[in-house]
Amino acid sequence: MHPILTNFLDKWVYPTGFTGPGVDFRMRQTERCLPLWDKLVLQAIKAAENDLQSGSDEYKAARARGGYAAEGPFMSLKQMSTQILSVGINEQPKYIDLQRMRARQIWDEVKHGQLHAYVLLRGGFIEREEELMDDPRANTQPKLSYFGMTAMFPHIHPLARAGQHYYNESMACLGIASTLSVIKDDLIRHQLHSQSAEELMHFMEGKYQIDAYALTPENQKPIEEVFDFLLRPWAPEPSRALGGAA
Ligand SMILES: [Fe+2]
Repeated sequence: MHPILTNFLDKWVYPTGFTGPGVDFRMRQTERCLPLWDKLVLQAIKAAENDLQSGSDEYKAARARGGYAAEGPFMSLKQMSTQILSVGINEQPKYIDLQRMRARQIWDEVKHGQLHAYVLLRGGFIEREEELMDDPRANTQPKLSYFGMTAMFPHIHPLARAGQHYYNESMACLGIASTLSVIKDDLIRHQLHSQSAEELMHFMEGKYQIDAYALTPENQKPIEEVFDFLLRPWAPEPSRALGGAA
């Protein structure tokens, strides 16, 4: 196992303030995630090394356009508001802490989009952010994943999102750490460092949701189904923002 993953597991995955069926369920899902998390680290490192060997700065723009497509204001507002709607009004007293974390994530993701825009602006790839509205590369996210299936969230269980937070947001954390281990460019490092704390918070929300709330088979089932969906062969590919092709 790569030390970047070992470090993440020791710091964030295994320590928990909870005991009981939620933690037991999360540990079973964690076992399923481990090989793909490890593969992601290796892929992200390889992608960063390939970028450095490309002999051009275009990789910085490609990463930033991919990040803007996945986390820019348009995608973020759409996706994060539907997360909030997955908790019905009658369930809000029970899940109000999840609602607050999701409200915070709207801000986080829009900020991440802005960080990618800054790379494009300060790197001299565009003169105004508005130019990105005319560029499909900054507005499409071809990755087939639960993360992109925005409109589904109002229709499913309030805890289902925990699977996405636990699996995809951990990949964001691991992808950022892996990329930072290779790329020394100031623009890229500023963007990644400015984003990484929030990605960790989103992962920790997934961890908290599972440990604290996924206590019965009925509440575990919708989360497990998300893991079933995400743990497909396409899943470990890094996002375009972190060097992946999609
Ligand atoms: Fe983000």
